[in-house]
Amino acid sequence: MSFPKDFLWGGATAANQFEGGWNEDGKGDSTADHLTLGSRSKPRRFTATFEEGEYYPSHKASDFYHHYKEDIALMAEMGFKVYRMSINWARLFPQGDEEKPNPKGVEFYRSVFTELKKYGIEPLVTISHYELPYHLSVQYDGWANRKCIDFYLNYCKVLFTEYKGLVKYWLTFNEINSAILEGNAYFSAGISSVQDKGMKAGVLEKEEEHAVDAGEDAAAQTRNKQYTALHHMMLASAKAVELAHSIDPQYRLGCMIAGICQYPLTCRPDDIIKAQKARQNIFYLCSDVMVRGAYPGYAKRYFAENGIQISMESGDEAILQKGCVDFYTFSYYSTGCVTTDENAEKTAGNMIFGAANPYLQASEWGWQIDPKGLRYFLNEIYDRYQIPIMVVENGLGQDDTLNPDGTVHDPYRIEYMRQHIEQMGEAINDGVELVGYTPWGCIDLTAASTGEMKKRYGLVYVDSDDHGNGSFRRYRKDSFYWYKKVIASDGTDLS
Ligand code: BG6
Repeated sequence: MSFPKDFLWGGATAANQFEGGWNEDGKGDSTADHLTLGSRSKPRRFTATFEEGEYYPSHKASDFYHHYKEDIALMAEMGFKVYRMSINWARLFPQGDEEKPNPKGVEFYRSVFTELKKYGIEPLVTISHYELPYHLSVQYDGWANRKCIDFYLNYCKVLFTEYKGLVKYWLTFNEINSAILEGNAYFSAGISSVQDKGMKAGVLEKEEEHAVDAGEDAAAQTRNKQYTALHHMMLASAKAVELAHSIDPQYRLGCMIAGICQYPLTCRPDDIIKAQKARQNIFYLCSDVMVRGAYPGYAKRYFAENGIQISMESGDEAILQKGCVDFYTFSYYSTGCVTTDENAEKTAGNMIFGAANPYLQASEWGWQIDPKGLRYFLNEIYDRYQIPIMVVENGLGQDDTLNPDGTVHDPYRIEYMRQHIEQMGEAINDGVELVGYTPWGCIDLTAASTGEMKKRYGLVYVDSDDHGNGSFRRYRKDSFYWYKKVIASDGTDLS
């Protein structure tokens, strides 16, 4: 096991799932604030107004807004070198299209970064994590509208100038490739297109569903809109990279890709080809553009065969070419399989439902656990791009029990992390330039797919239930002490 001395050990959260304080100090509504609580069997809903009797998890979340000092102290106690967090766009720009930011929003994040600096923790900031100001979604149809690029850049300019010297690492969009998945377009294509559809893991995504029947105008329009929105987001990202480098050449910008990692279910050539196509079109498409600076050949064929017309304007190709990211990041929780056999057993996963892998076990939420797959995909990604990589999400979502004495015993989480860290060590020994690891929800937060609090990923327990009832006190889980030891030993002591 050879984790370098300067390896960035840490943890990750996102504003809308962690921060709370949803309408305080001038913050506007974000799209995420309009998402109701769901469950494994009940999809979340977007509601235009706040409905009585519904609970909106982002409103309180884990209340980092009022606990950030305590939370950062806990991170420091674990020995974090890096903390991945996101900025709530609507806290800085309540409507999204204002010229000047909300000073109190700017101040809040300055306080957070200053607190991190106090402990020598490097922030890794996701600029847009599954949300945008609600107003942009309603008035402009979100990312489907090219104007959103300018609003985003205005927001980025504030971030890059205000926090110069406090932040070095930025991620332009969380899991940007998920923008093309059915039901997850809420943050990209505008709310209207996803009303009542649920989101993320509540939706079945099949390769065949990508094929647009020419007769189905509505489906074709939605598909076009999603890819257009994605194109706008990738342009915005490329422009943000250029802007950041011009403001501070020390800035390092990364892409963040949802680890929709799939194998062929069998060695039948049809399964192999189908899995390769799924990997290209769902997993690699965005990073091929963001790391290499141009749409790959397979995308052109895919677009042509599926009636997809993105609104490519003159100058766009040059923008993409100039705005390549400095490092690659992705989320990794599980893997799935692809097959042409329609009767194959299905499995759940992060946003995608594939065929079940008979060699793997699943978590309580049905995600198949595959530590060796992490080594495999790290090698694949590094072979392809040859730039530094960080695993910026990984972990086990599981309900925990808070004991009367304040302890939380979570051996299952320790085992999950141990196995994944071991495989990251193997990947480093394979020659992969892996530079950081930020396990997801290092302090408990609400789940993106269901909004539940009880799908806990944390090393720290937050006393709140799915409906936001509780003291919000923080308790160290067994995994907290274990991870502290892992970090202190540079990943050599995983016992
Ligand atoms: C990733 C997202 O897809 O998965 C996170 O970037 C999310 O926002 C994480 O929380 C885990 O998914 P869930 O649905 O269990 O919260």
